[in-house]
Amino acid sequence: MTVLNSGTGPLHTRICELFGVKYPIVQTGMGYVSDARLTAATTTAGGLGIIAGAMLTYDELRSAIDYVKDRTDQPFGVNLRANQDDIDRRIKLLIQSGVKIASFALAPNQAQIGRLKDAGLVVVPSIGARRHAEKVAAWGVDAVVVQGGEGGGHTGAVPTSLLLPQVVDAVDIPVIAAGGYFDGRGLVSALAYGADGIAMGTRFMLTSDSPVSQAVKDVYLSKSVNDTVVTLEIDGVPQRVLRAGTIDQLESSHGPTRMLRAARNAIAFQRLSGTPWSRLIREGLEMRKSHELGWRQVVMAANAPMLYRSALLDGRTDIGVMATGQVVGLIDDIPSSAELVERIMQDAEAVLARLTPAPAPAPEPELDSRVLSAENVKGTTN
Ligand SMILES: Cc1cc2nc3c(=O)[nH]c(=O)nc-3n(C[C@H](O)[C@H](O)[C@H](O)COP(=O)(O)O)c2cc1C
Repeated sequence: MTVLNSGTGPLHTRICELFGVKYPIVQTGMGYVSDARLTAATTTAGGLGIIAGAMLTYDELRSAIDYVKDRTDQPFGVNLRANQDDIDRRIKLLIQSGVKIASFALAPNQAQIGRLKDAGLVVVPSIGARRHAEKVAAWGVDAVVVQGGEGGGHTGAVPTSLLLPQVVDAVDIPVIAAGGYFDGRGLVSALAYGADGIAMGTRFMLTSDSPVSQAVKDVYLSKSVNDTVVTLEIDGVPQRVLRAGTIDQLESSHGPTRMLRAARNAIAFQRLSGTPWSRLIREGLEMRKSHELGWRQVVMAANAPMLYRSALLDGRTDIGVMATGQVVGLIDDIPSSAELVERIMQDAEAVLARLTPAPAPAPEPELDSRVLSAENVKGTTN
């Protein structure tokens, strides 16, 4: 790889120091997508890879951490959900395994932040609103990922171009811009807004290191920026997904039919995953409490992992749900993670060079002063 950003210059930002990485590029935690292999590939390439820990069982998470540690000694992260029922045990696992960065889909509480920071971890929640950034900054997190509305998965309504400057102006900690990034121009623009780097989900999902099958990647590649939708139908919280069969059905079906669809998928998920019903119900009730969901949405929430897993891992794009950012419409290839990181850094260097005016040529010395200096030279040499 070409040597870029070797510890100085505008592309070497505060997050390079904070995370201990070469480049200000983060591959986010994505359920069923950012597995150990993708995380190891991004981390080895000089970015920050993050394992999607929330959808893994405890033992799967431990194996994923070991896999990455066996392949790189560079720092990497694990994404968790702060309200998981075994979150304390998972936090302990991160601490004991020497994981350096804890990423959160929902804001962690003060006690969780304190525990992680006391153990020397860097804590980085993802947020979708300025007031959330202010809250977690006051609680002591080290940086925030700010996701604008065009981003994939759970997302807010404010686009990155407005949310990012709002948050940069509101907090003193490093801000990482997410939602809509895919190239070097985006990286430079985020830095111009005052961010310290970019985080990408959809772009990293569409690399050869992600576990999503080529057939499913082809479906994504065929989509335009208009082929995504933000829906409440999956778990009651707005999520950006591809406009596809299941979502259309869920959006258009009514009362009992919706409930029936939700229940059928929940049963299928329970069978496939072996997750105890008690845990599914507990998590559903937790979602109901934290997101003020109705009962139909609670059943949908229990069902959400099934919908993702079916499409992303089992290739059942007909019955599953495909989370995505709008940026999917600007992506038309499947590079490796390393190629992607290298391309973004080289593009960013080129953009910066284009924006930086070439130094003006030194002015010609005036005749008189030339004569004078020539005489001076003569005078000194003779
Ligand atoms: C398939 C998929 C799954 C995701 N799962 C998670 C998740 O488990 N936890 C999380 O914090 N964010 C999740 N996200 C959001 C991403 O981490 C990231 O913030 C978002 O994709 C950024 O927008 P972009 O897709 O435009 O790059 C997911 C996104 C996608 C596309």
